[in-house]
Amino acid sequence: MTTTAIVSALHEELAAVLELMPDERQQVVGGRSFWRGHLHGHDVVAVLSGIGKVAAATTATSLIERFGVQSIVFTGVAGGLGDGVNVGDVVVAQRFLQHDMDASPIFPRHEVPGYGRATFEADAVQTARLASASALVLSALPSQLGADVLTTFGLQAPRCHQGLLISGDRFVATTAESQALRDVLPDALAVEMEGAAFAQVCHDYGVPLAVVRTISDRADDAAHVDFPRFLREVARRYSSAIIETLLRKK
Ligand code: ADE
Repeated sequence: MTTTAIVSALHEELAAVLELMPDERQQVVGGRSFWRGHLHGHDVVAVLSGIGKVAAATTATSLIERFGVQSIVFTGVAGGLGDGVNVGDVVVAQRFLQHDMDASPIFPRHEVPGYGRATFEADAVQTARLASASALVLSALPSQLGADVLTTFGLQAPRCHQGLLISGDRFVATTAESQALRDVLPDALAVEMEGAAFAQVCHDYGVPLAVVRTISDRADDAAHVDFPRFLREVARRYSSAIIETLLRKK
């Protein structure tokens, strides 16, 4: 049986995933807790990614080297960058880029030295499955979240977007910085702090990766207010529902 890694960016998300696993056992590697068990009959390892690209890369490496996972699914939140990528929407990544990678003028800006490229791809098959699970969850969302939560966050018609996800070791919390990112990377749909690191490690090992991010803020001057509120009240409900839908369908 193949083993799937379920990686959560947030404690709340991991707790919701662990609630779906009847038999999880904890194993600590590199100071990080990995939870081995089953979810809807699938052999899974669930783990918290840690924040930032280094934590993400060591987590991905442990999952592959120590736990032998054959695919990785990552859920978390992100700041929306693209036009129309709003709080409560979902972004399923097709490509990843490290927006703070810059070895210019030796290499072109954003290119990862040694790879001859700036972007890494998500696995097309896993990503299509994740996108359809996400769309299904979004369509059922209004009946799962209370009317007050829907109104507070303006979640009336959340959308599922697919495209470029960018990562860097910075929480983007000013309108000036998000505009600067939009100027240099006009295709970017959303920004977070781990996805592109997972993508590079998965590329190195040939392990398929799929990433879904719920938009918690617009990476602007209001991000520091919107982000924690969204985490408390909405985020974990999205990710556990998406994971459950994904694994139930498989
Ligand atoms: N994750 C969620 N919101 C984010 C932001 N604004 N910047 C970076 N990572 C994020």
